[in-house]
Amino acid sequence: MASSSLPTIPSGASAAVLKQSDPVPESAVSVEGPDFDEPVSLQQLLESYTRIGFQANSLGKAIDIVNKMRKWRLSDEPIPEDESEEYLSEEVRAQIRCNIFLGYTSNLISSGLREIILYLVKHKHVKAIVTTAGGIEEDFIKCLGKTYLADFNLDGADLRKRGMNRIGNLIVPNDNYCKFEDWLTPILDQMLAEQKETGQVWSPSTIIRRLGKEINNEESVYYWAYKNDIPVFCPALTDGSLGDMIYFHSFKNPGLIIDIVSDIRALNELSRKSRKAGMIILGGGVCKHQIANAMLIRNGADYSVYINTGQEFDGSDSGARPDEAVSWGKIRAGSESVKVFADATLVFPLLVAATFAQGD
Ligand SMILES: NC(=O)c1ccc[n+]([C@@H]2O[C@H](COP(=O)([O-])OP(=O)(O)OC[C@H]3O[C@@H](n4cnc5c(N)ncnc54)[C@H](O)[C@@H]3O)[C@@H](O)[C@H]2O)c1
Repeated sequence: MASSSLPTIPSGASAAVLKQSDPVPESAVSVEGPDFDEPVSLQQLLESYTRIGFQANSLGKAIDIVNKMRKWRLSDEPIPEDESEEYLSEEVRAQIRCNIFLGYTSNLISSGLREIILYLVKHKHVKAIVTTAGGIEEDFIKCLGKTYLADFNLDGADLRKRGMNRIGNLIVPNDNYCKFEDWLTPILDQMLAEQKETGQVWSPSTIIRRLGKEINNEESVYYWAYKNDIPVFCPALTDGSLGDMIYFHSFKNPGLIIDIVSDIRALNELSRKSRKAGMIILGGGVCKHQIANAMLIRNGADYSVYINTGQEFDGSDSGARPDEAVSWGKIRAGSESVKVFADATLVFPLLVAATFAQGD
């Protein structure tokens, strides 16, 4: 009597909640995290990222793409009928690798990512670099004085009184910039003298190369770039302390010319001549777009890894996902690309640990 009086589940509601699924495709991968009840090595942990989901998944994909950049050889590809003479021999083809273009914002050289970038340059893992002015000068300045860990919340006016400059939660004493001026000014004098003597015009990349030679210090990224003949492009070289020093120098000893035309030609030609090209770009702004733009010259990058915190809703290039670059021909349609939405200081050490640091 009691049960017959129970109301029945409304059929529309049960159909809505208990809707049947289509069969799951056989290729579907299930979500699963690492099991810390078993010993887990760093490599195993990083491998597990591909199945955790969200940005861990994107990092897993970035690791996979970078390893593909590292593994690729021209000998992996069939020889096309119109192949040029110099690339016909299998031996030569086995030596031709994917050219990796590395970009990073200035703050990453201020951070401890500098030492990871140095590792990549020292071991010739990258073919070319693009960064901004702070990304150049902060490397040299770190050879002259230290950058310190601090706090995002330190008071700006108080720091100014004490001659301390804040970059996020890092502090650079202003004395470091004074030491930088003392080091740089005679080199600018010398470069100007050479320009006057020989007619040679400097470009951002040849200045960086010269500074890398002059610093003569194995702790410098650009010392290794000089040693290993890795070009470093910095189209906005004057937007930082380097610009202040060049400004002062233009009063003391005027006449230095810095040519950006030869650099855009060198960067674009390097891209055009790359049989395979990969981008690894940490952060946004000039370092991101200058590499992507160079990729347009070859009809797009073959492999692309972006790591940045930029968002696309404001239409910024910094925040644009790889698919926007596909629309411009800066990334090849159908090629492998990923954007990891994260602070590069968290992600890049893991990416390098799982790729370049594994050896060839
Ligand atoms: N140490 C410094 O940061 C420093 C020093 C001197 C001069 N400057 C100058 O400031 C100007 C602006 O710097 P910029 O163009 O190198 O970049 P930026 O610092 O303006 O960053 C550009 C974008 O990159 C992304 N980004 C930055 N840091 C990131 C991180 N840790 N992880 C993930 N994404 C990140 C964000 O989307 C950000 O909006 C440049 O001209 C540079 O020379 C910077």
